[in-house]
This record gives sequence, C-alpha cells and structure tokens, in this order.
Amino acid sequence: MDKNLALELVRVTEAAALASARLMGRGDEKAADQAAVDAMRKTFDAIDIDGVIVIGEGERDEAPMLYIGEHVGSKKGPSIDIALDPLEGTTITAKGGYNATSVIAVAERGSFLHAPDTYMDKIAVGPEAKGLINYNDPVPVTLKKTADALKKHLEDLTVCILDRPRHDELIKQVREAGCRIKLISDGDVSGAIATCMPDSPVDILLGIGGAPEGVLSAAALKCLGGDFQGKLHFRNDEEKERAKKMGIHDLDKAYTLEELAKGESILFCATGVTDGEMLKGVYFTGNGAITNSIVMRARTRTIRWIKAVHHFDFKPSY
Ligand code: FBP
Repeated sequence: MDKNLALELVRVTEAAALASARLMGRGDEKAADQAAVDAMRKTFDAIDIDGVIVIGEGERDEAPMLYIGEHVGSKKGPSIDIALDPLEGTTITAKGGYNATSVIAVAERGSFLHAPDTYMDKIAVGPEAKGLINYNDPVPVTLKKTADALKKHLEDLTVCILDRPRHDELIKQVREAGCRIKLISDGDVSGAIATCMPDSPVDILLGIGGAPEGVLSAAALKCLGGDFQGKLHFRNDEEKERAKKMGIHDLDKAYTLEELAKGESILFCATGVTDGEMLKGVYFTGNGAITNSIVMRARTRTIRWIKAVHHFDFKPSY
C-alpha cells in the first residue's frame, strides 16, 4: 500500500469534518450526518484507489451513499477495503458537545471483520497491557491485570465507559474495584484511542457500543500498539439473522484485535469535528477554517498530527 495514501485520506475526513462542523449545535443529527456523508463521498472520487466499503453507513437498501459494498475512488489505485464513520458522534455534533470526529481506516482486501450494524461488548487498552486482556475474564480480573501492567494502584486506574443504563452493572463492578470512571456521552472510538495516548487519563475502555465502531477502534489500536477484544452483542433475532447474512456464524465468538483488523497494511485517519481530548474540532476563520487530524500507519506505527488551514472562496451576501 502506497504510504502517500495516508495523506490523501486525510482530505476525506477533513472534508466530512468541515461539512458537518458547520451544523454544530443545530440540534439536527440527521443533517449533520448527511453533510459528512455527502462531503466524504464526493472527496473519495478524487482519490486514486479501488476501494470497497466494508464498514459504512449501512446496508445498500438503508443507505444511498457510503453503503456496505459500495465501490469508491477513481478505481486507478490499489485495491483496498474501507471502514468509515463520516461522523462519529452525531448527537455530540447536534448538541455542540465534546469529541465528535470523522474517521476512516483502510487496509488490503480482507483485513477488516465485516461487522453487522449491531452492538459489540468491548475492551480496549494501551500498549503496556497488550497481550494481557482476555474477554472471558471477569471485570475485576481485567482491571487488576491492566493496573498491574501500568504499575498503577487500582484506585488510580481510569475506566472509560459509555454513559448508558445498560452499563449500570458494569459501573457498579468498576466502582466496587475502587477504580476511577470517565463516563462519556458518545464516541467510544475516541475513548478506545485515548487508552493509547500517554497524556490522556483513560487507561481502559469497557462496555457495549456499536460494532462498526469496534472495528474502527481495533484499526486505530493496531496502529497505536494497543489491544482490543470485542464480542458482538445482539438485541434481537433480526440482528442475529443480519449477522449470519454477513457471514458470521459463531455468534458467541470473542474477537481478538487481529481478527477485527488483520495484518500490517492498516492506515487510520481521523479529523476533529468538535473539540476533544485527542483532536481539536473545526475552527472557522474569517475566510476559511482550521482542521486537526491524526494519521497513523500500522506497519511503522508512525503517528502524524496534521493541522490544516483551509481557504474558502467567501463572497459576502451584502
Ligand atoms: P453515532 O455517531 O453513529 O451516533 O455513534 C455514536 C456512538 O456513541 C458510538 O461511538 C458508540 O459506539 C455508539 O454510538 C453507541 O450506541 P448507542 O448510542 O446506541 O448506545
């Protein structure tokens, strides 16, 4: 895979972030998401790839653009699979909240798990705890292993959890273990990435979020040297059927990082939409905007932070 592709891909997340950030705080999740989708779809056409979306906006009959199976790019470049979320944090953006991003991961064909749009129960940790987590361990064991790996007291370990009623029991267990908790309203891809960032207080992410976001998190953690495990979590039989149609037969399987995001060809890119710990959001200036992105490659584990100044051809309406 051409390493320059990583830099090309930033333009795609930048475009989606710029478009959706315009709708920050407008209370319209759909409009913000649509703006991100439209901008991302359009920008793909200018990139020399023969891309197939494997994690996208949904099945073809639900999503007219960036649907699973859609081919994107000029078809002149490398054959790659694409996992994307044009706007990770639609509610955050609609409320002008914290940590919304636009994200993409690409890799050689067959690298990503074709995850259905269901939930996934996740564990994410940074490089120090790599190889130590096991989905089947009880929560207190996972917490202790992670704390030991980080040479921290359990009382100093910070656990990131999506703030949802379904996590009441998990939160109780983490509190009983004596750990600190950072509850987030949305955006567990950023939460997973935070486990690998030395200047973030987050040490481990636990709990149930979207399965597509699980694959994106695994791709990011592959580039960052962290670890991730996840098990699909189905709400009903219809979701199980959907998973089977996508080729998933063992519905109880706990997936390792390598099974979710295979090999070393992975590239991951994210641009901030609203301000977050990892990335600042889009700042609009008098005649343009400033974006902040992160670009990572699994093969070299290089992390690049890209601040871009964009100029708009602005014509005042007066
Ligand atoms: P969207 O941007 O698609 O709304 O996803 C935001 C998110 O918080 C994800 O980060 C997370 O994995 C998922 O939603 C959790 O789902 P739910 O809101 O149903 O608990």
